[in-house]
Amino acid sequence: MAVELSPEGIEECRKIIDKLGNEEAALIPVLHVAQEEFRWLSTEAMDYVARMLHLPPARVYGVATFYTMFNKEPVGKYHIQVCTNLSCSLLGAEGVVEYISTKLGIKAGETTQDDKFTLSTAECLGSCGTAPMMQINDEYYEELTEERIDKILEELSNK
Ligand code: FES
Repeated sequence: MAVELSPEGIEECRKIIDKLGNEEAALIPVLHVAQEEFRWLSTEAMDYVARMLHLPPARVYGVATFYTMFNKEPVGKYHIQVCTNLSCSLLGAEGVVEYISTKLGIKAGETTQDDKFTLSTAECLGSCGTAPMMQINDEYYEELTEERIDKILEELSNK
């Protein structure tokens, strides 16, 4: 399936390339733009980025697969990534995963039927001091409690 960024997305990429001065340096930020629009990086999306930046597709695949922040599988509108590394784990990350899982009726690695939420576990997201925490799309949500999770999910459900 052919994929193409919106005119706004293309413009954003142009600005990034201009600012950074070369296409190779623009790869990671451009992949972020692509992920924001497509939600995940399919092979077609990575090929599109490779053509746009005049880079070998293998270079783009290599970078996209190296970084866990890039989704290589389809995800819902809101991709919830709960950190389950040591600090978060000590402060209840497993309970957070279980709570969200029960609330949304999905297991880690699954997406709700309405395509709104995907639940994943993640390695340390660099916010250990405010554990337990999760990332939803580009936002961090820290010092999680069940009440706070209820509020966050309710707000997102209504968007
Ligand atoms: S262990 Fe969870 S953010 Fe570092």
